[in-house]
Amino acid sequence: MADGKEFINKLILGDNLVELQKIPDESVDLIYADPPFFSNRTYEIIWGDDGERRSFDDRFAGDIDVYLSWLIVRVRQMHRILKDTGSIFLHCDWHANAEIKIDVLNSIFGKNNFRNEIIWSYKRYTAKSKKFQSLHDTIFWYSKGKDYTFYDTREDYGEKSGKMDSHYKQDEEGNWYRMQKRKGAEPYKIYLSEGKRLGDVWELPIINASAKERIGYPTQKPEALLQRIIEATTNEGDVVLDPFVGGGTTVAVADRLNRKWIGIDQSVMAVKVTELRLRKRQNELFAKPFEVEIPTFDLSKLQKAEGKQFEIFIVDKYGGIPNLKGGKDLGIDGHTQYGTPIQVKKWNRPVGRDTLDSFITAISRDDKGLFEKNKKEGQICGFIIGFDFSKDLKNEVARLANKENIIISLKYVKDIIPYDNPPQVTLSAEELENMKYRFEAYAESKAGIDFYSWDFNHNEEVFRGDITMDKTGVQEKKFPEGEHQVAVKAIDKQGLEGMDKVKIKVKK
Ligand SMILES: C[S@@+](CC[C@H](N)C(=O)[O-])C[C@H]1O[C@@H](n2cnc3c(N)ncnc32)[C@H](O)[C@@H]1O
Repeated sequence: MADGKEFINKLILGDNLVELQKIPDESVDLIYADPPFFSNRTYEIIWGDDGERRSFDDRFAGDIDVYLSWLIVRVRQMHRILKDTGSIFLHCDWHANAEIKIDVLNSIFGKNNFRNEIIWSYKRYTAKSKKFQSLHDTIFWYSKGKDYTFYDTREDYGEKSGKMDSHYKQDEEGNWYRMQKRKGAEPYKIYLSEGKRLGDVWELPIINASAKERIGYPTQKPEALLQRIIEATTNEGDVVLDPFVGGGTTVAVADRLNRKWIGIDQSVMAVKVTELRLRKRQNELFAKPFEVEIPTFDLSKLQKAEGKQFEIFIVDKYGGIPNLKGGKDLGIDGHTQYGTPIQVKKWNRPVGRDTLDSFITAISRDDKGLFEKNKKEGQICGFIIGFDFSKDLKNEVARLANKENIIISLKYVKDIIPYDNPPQVTLSAEELENMKYRFEAYAESKAGIDFYSWDFNHNEEVFRGDITMDKTGVQEKKFPEGEHQVAVKAIDKQGLEGMDKVKIKVKK
């Protein structure tokens, strides 16, 4: 990215207004934004077409200005982070598309950078009403400037072309073609297999109940839609951003098409379901690694982290400069921007007096001049960061400050990064009749459980969610004869997860 760090694909849990501000200027090639409607009064996100419409009419009507100002501040950020050759696709529908075009996109991107109004047309059952059925969404495409990336995209001719169309003939190999005549040029063949140039009306099915790609996330968009957008406006290796990632369609397609990606969502369910969707690909040959950024860290993972990695991470989060060398660092893991030494301990037992004694020796040798200066001026001589500190150590810190003018500052990890215990899960299996089993997950978490995911054919390497969004924690399933392992993940409201598994032996 623009800051010189190696790019890592990322899923981020958070408000996109905050997260977009952390992304450098002109660093993204494509943004696909599919914002929700929300009721401003409750900030409740309204999912699903029926829910969306009812809530919009009941509570949002008249508040369009509030909605637009919510969107404008976000789209301004999107404009800032797009490269000059980049594009935005903003997905909306009849509720607000008129206002979004004029008040948001024209005013931020400029009328001249309007490229297309794409109509996504689909079929679905709608309730009877005294108007024509709404059977399309609108996707506005704006480029950031005139020199934007675009590749001509083709779609298949319909089945009626070819043998049903008298303009077409077949060559010796059976391929259908028609002759194109241009003034002053020799006639030439155009083959049906070349496809026709894509127009701005896209007929693509919505995700129906039995679709293979369906993950059950409300408002999930089809992969074919995102594939068209990504292929037409980016190259391999380009960065694709979805600030309303939902069930992860954009990032799943970007990943498959070898683009880099960033997905943001403020809903735990969205981020975790997207994570599970991408992890399902993880043991496929070309799946790329990615990071999931959740504001609350998992305490058990922090304490299991490799020592040096943990030290570097904490010093960095504290705003210091980590000591990247391993080996004999005299117990100094980094320095503040002013050169004051920092030591980090990741033990789950309280840091004791002996640590302090050797730290004092180390800091007095590390930079003798600075140590003496800090002592003289009554400044902090060193920082120790830990999960907890013993009483002995605290007493000695007080004595050093009072009697020897050596000020050591003790910092708790919890004040640098928020962390919590992940949910504790217990899974039980009960045999019902006819090779059918009932599974019940019991999970405990201070934050409260958000949802459960199930892998009915669990191998030790990856968790492949068969059911990704279960609110109940109870499942019944029939199995073929043999041994099976079932795993359940409980995800809490902070996005932390715990897992348990059971083995069953199914007999006829
Ligand atoms: C219409 S859905 C997106 C669906 C997605 N395109 C898909 O294919 O699954 C909108 C998403 O925006 C998220 N969202 C709403 N406000 C947000 C905000 N301020 N920051 C980040 N995400 C937000 C919601 O949680 C929801 O998942």
